[in-house]
Amino acid sequence: MRILVIGGGGREHALVWRLAQNPTVDRLFAAPGNPGIAVDATCVPVDPDDTRGIVDLVRRESIDLTVVGPETPLVKGLVDELDAEGHRAFGPTRDAARIEGSKAWAKELCHKYGVPAGRSRSFTDLDTAIAYLNELEPPYVIKADGLAAGKGVVIADDRSDAIAALRVCLIDRAFGEAGAVVLVEEHLTGREVSAFGLTDGREVVPLVLAQDFKRAGDGDMGPNTGGMGAYSPVPWVDEGMERRIWDEVLVRTVRAMESEGVRYAGLLYAGLMVTEDGPKVLEFNCRFGDPETQAIVPRLRSDLGEMLLASVEGNIGNYKALWASDVCVTVVLASGGYPGPYETGFVIDGLDEAGAIDDVVIFHAGTAERRGRVVTAGGRVLAVSALGATAEEARDRAYQACSRISFPGMHFRRDIAADVTEAG
Ligand code: AMP
Ligand code: GLY
Repeated sequence: MRILVIGGGGREHALVWRLAQNPTVDRLFAAPGNPGIAVDATCVPVDPDDTRGIVDLVRRESIDLTVVGPETPLVKGLVDELDAEGHRAFGPTRDAARIEGSKAWAKELCHKYGVPAGRSRSFTDLDTAIAYLNELEPPYVIKADGLAAGKGVVIADDRSDAIAALRVCLIDRAFGEAGAVVLVEEHLTGREVSAFGLTDGREVVPLVLAQDFKRAGDGDMGPNTGGMGAYSPVPWVDEGMERRIWDEVLVRTVRAMESEGVRYAGLLYAGLMVTEDGPKVLEFNCRFGDPETQAIVPRLRSDLGEMLLASVEGNIGNYKALWASDVCVTVVLASGGYPGPYETGFVIDGLDEAGAIDDVVIFHAGTAERRGRVVTAGGRVLAVSALGATAEEARDRAYQACSRISFPGMHFRRDIAADVTEAG
């Protein structure tokens, strides 16, 4: 099989790295890829949002399966374009990707089909949105409907902050068209977990749970980021709760979409709050999580290429994903200033020394090659993943690897998976 992976971040590196080990995969391509991905795949400089360019590449290289990493090309309909020309592509169609592309639509689906989620309503008019605040208790959760690169969510402590957030979204249009509709949501308390299911539109193969660390600083302080680390599995979710996550959230949502006449095939990612009343949906994503994928893929024992193909071909029901019992801990090394403005182009030292540690894999997220050296090229630069028999062992290995890597301004969280090791 000749596979093309769309994207050039840590998530795509993890997918390529595992696919390269699968016997069913003959040749790998990535667009645009990165220097880490280039070890296993031919990188072609085509932008993931350049639909025409991707379709041409698929044709030119006789690609058997295109795996789409990021959400934007999915929401824009890349899979539809490839389907229309008879090319197999992993990921939801544009209509199905609405589950991430419109938070309002996704929540309405939850309410209609009994998928557990907090109370919420969507608005286009400021005054009716303000009136709805009276029906909720503070803090208030205000979300731009469309894709806002993770910046469209505000947790407002009181009514005046909530009104200000509604104005920023609806009147100032700080998120452009993505904020033409705004969602006002009940604030949920509990612990967050990410759940991943692989589906062909009918059957759902539960993958594993992972914990993501979204804030920039230790102790969950500081601004929100794309994700500063992750671990998997998640020992504090017991078997009963996990069962509910698969049945009440993932399976029910895929069936709900089917009832709406929309086949959702691909990876369905539910961002959940585990509350006293059970799991509740915070958001859905229509693709693999980043950096959770970097913590999941090293544990996967099944053939990833075959599983992705089964999702496309509609026979995922025959698959059961097999996992190593090991724990994987992933620490993201970020550029100084990230998630705010940062400089790039710094040489990264110590990659080989860090990668030489047993059971450590270093995934490139925002890197480039300059005169034969790997340099920083993004906010999240590397994702250092380590396996261990226990969370403690995996964590020690991951941080040992981090200590061997350096570039000017590098920062990372020191407390990834610290809570699980303390909990035992
Ligand atoms: P989202 O992009 O919808 O996942 O929101 C980003 C982050 O905001 C989540 O990871 C949560 O930490 C927080 N959040 C979103 N919705 C809620 C909610 N209803 N209650 C509490 N926290 C929330
Ligand atoms: N880790 C959060 C995301 O992938 O959206």
